[in-house]
Amino acid sequence: MKKRNGGRQVDQFKALVVNKTETDFTVNVKTVSIEDLPEGDVVIKVAYSSVNYKDGLACIPNGKIVKSYPFIPGIDLAGIVASSKDPRFKEGDEVIATSYEIGVSHYGGYSEYARIPGDWIVPLPKGLTLKEAMALGTAGFTAALSIHRLEENGLSPEKGKVLVTGATGGVGSIAVSMLAKRNYHVVASTGKESEHEYLRKLGAKEIISREEVCPEQIRPLDKQYWAAAVDPVGGRTLATILSRIQYNGSVAVSGLTGGADVPTTVFPFILRGVNLLGIDSVYCPMELRKQIWERMATNLKPDKLLDLIAQEITLEQLPEALSNILKGKLRGRTVVKLA
Ligand SMILES: NC(=O)c1ccc[n+]([C@@H]2O[C@H](COP(=O)([O-])OP(=O)(O)OC[C@H]3O[C@@H](n4cnc5c(N)ncnc54)[C@H](OP(=O)(O)O)[C@@H]3O)[C@@H](O)[C@H]2O)c1
Repeated sequence: MKKRNGGRQVDQFKALVVNKTETDFTVNVKTVSIEDLPEGDVVIKVAYSSVNYKDGLACIPNGKIVKSYPFIPGIDLAGIVASSKDPRFKEGDEVIATSYEIGVSHYGGYSEYARIPGDWIVPLPKGLTLKEAMALGTAGFTAALSIHRLEENGLSPEKGKVLVTGATGGVGSIAVSMLAKRNYHVVASTGKESEHEYLRKLGAKEIISREEVCPEQIRPLDKQYWAAAVDPVGGRTLATILSRIQYNGSVAVSGLTGGADVPTTVFPFILRGVNLLGIDSVYCPMELRKQIWERMATNLKPDKLLDLIAQEITLEQLPEALSNILKGKLRGRTVVKLA
């Protein structure tokens, strides 16, 4: 089958393919054809994808993300509709597709073409380019959803300081930048001393070490430091945060780079009315999803997205970036250019 694309016929293209056999695990850029793509109503010529922690896990043998092999990972993609059987989209439309089964059980964005169900696609909002959309990607969406939920639960700049953990990572960098834009006093926690200047440029007012939010001993209740927190780290860090949040404050937890077990007690909840808000980007309902993308294109759009937070790489440079994100070595966001 040949695919029309702006007058050009494309039947073969490049993608990053992971494969696992009984004896081997490989991650390689390969030539793929349109027929190899999964079911879906909309064929998208992918312009950009991005690197997320989950993508790193998808590209290691025991990452427990990919359901069957061979597979094309990439939980984020943005591009131009090449053809559509879905009346909501037409050839030439600029679109974003993230979440759902993309990059998990449905071939993802590390591919020059993707075929995606129409129900998973968001039109590119006015105010964002395709590249900016992927500089945000799932990490940016998660940061924005975290801030949205904190504000729904009463957070405003005069309530006090807001902590962001894993601050130099994807979710963290964008959360720092978005909160600073909204005039919050941001306290950034990082394990990277060399990146303090970067965090200040993003708008952090204070910087603390990882150890300060993850001490040897966690008290059930501690001094009330922060009005709220955006926490993609989880684990013992989350337990410490809960013990240090102000009365009626909230914590938006989205990740587990610091571990899955949270050794906390009921006391922050029953004695200080602390709210623990779970953040899930994957099955966030479409109506709210569109609202969050609109906010990211307007009042939550980070000021230094392309010149400070994001760097661009090619498909060939992806394996190294995917390995680095699992080691906590990537700073900010990494955008993958496909077209
Ligand atoms: N719930 C959702 O829908 C959703 C969506 C997106 C991501 N996530 C999750 O959120 C987490 C962060 O994702 P990301 O894309 O921002 O990843 P990332 O870019 O790798 O950022 C994670 C950051 O966490 C810090 N970190 C790394 N190892 C740590 C450790 N052992 N203890 C404490 N901090 C550590 C590092 O920041 P510093 O060096 O600055 O401390 C690192 O840069 C992941 O667990 C991811 O799966 C969840």
